[in-house]
Amino acid sequence: MTSDNYFSLKFESGYLVYLDQTRLPSIESYITTDDYKRVAESIKCLEIRGAPLIGIAAAYALALSQKEAYCEDVFNEAFSVLASTRPTAVNLFVALNRMKSLHDRLPEKDRNFGNFCREAMSIHREDELMCEAIAQNGADILPDDCTILTHCNTGKLATGGIGTAFGVIRRAFEQGKIKKVYADETRPLFQGLRLTSFELHKTGIPYTIITESTAGVLIRDKKINAVITGADRIARNGDAANKLGTFTLSVLCKHHGIPFFIAAPSTTIDLEAKAFSDIPIEERKGDELLRYLDKTYSNQHFEAYNPSFDVTPAENIDGIITEKGVFRYPFSFK
Ligand code: MRU
Repeated sequence: MTSDNYFSLKFESGYLVYLDQTRLPSIESYITTDDYKRVAESIKCLEIRGAPLIGIAAAYALALSQKEAYCEDVFNEAFSVLASTRPTAVNLFVALNRMKSLHDRLPEKDRNFGNFCREAMSIHREDELMCEAIAQNGADILPDDCTILTHCNTGKLATGGIGTAFGVIRRAFEQGKIKKVYADETRPLFQGLRLTSFELHKTGIPYTIITESTAGVLIRDKKINAVITGADRIARNGDAANKLGTFTLSVLCKHHGIPFFIAAPSTTIDLEAKAFSDIPIEERKGDELLRYLDKTYSNQHFEAYNPSFDVTPAENIDGIITEKGVFRYPFSFK
């Protein structure tokens, strides 16, 4: 019997409660805090992760910075600490700027914890609703009897709702359209192996874990009907940054004639970024990939290059599934 009796994050009695994603899938433990600095740390070390969820957590954290009393300096300090956690997911900046614009609009007497919390809750609820619409729009375009390959993690663990790419898969599964899902492990932090497998298991969707290198033969042999991933930032022309390895999958799909889709809320579209070169790509410490089982190889005499994301060019993307509908290449989001 499976059940999705877990949540990624909730706001309760003035505290943020969230699942520590670094300990999944073996340990389901929740962190409870009202300290914005602790939330910022959690975003940095991926206890909280996934573009929409990062934005939601940051909005709550900014509200929490005002729990004791309103203080403009603390608000600004919290804003910059949170904004410096992870550079690629634009949802972080969209959420923080929305909180800041509320702050600037409110007369000083109304700049209080309650009002900031209400805004953060709206951001959270809106994301949940966008996930629902993305799921429906995506499920509508999938054929029956589908085998899907997905990358990284885009479910409840990454959003305020049922997920983006994962939401599409889940809704299509409920409609009887999904035969099976391949989730690739997603090196070096194994979001596919640890987190997507956790969510697929909890929702009862049949799945198989593969290495990223296995995708090539499965796509070539037409064992997959479509690849669907999420995104961290989509430029105005449709170039889409997502977890490293997404670009490779898109090239394989294009070469072998397999549809490649991105699913994301409109808050992931950055109209100020014209194309891929305007998207900042996070580079993480090489140590993260110099590990095998319990051993660390970072004391050896070699270097590691560890960009966290890559950018898939717009022309490799068959459709971008949003809450507003499915956009097709060439993309125009206005
Ligand atoms: O480094 P992560 O785990 O935060 O990366 C997450 C991804 O790349 C997701 O695909 C993306 O944020 C979309 S989540 C709906």
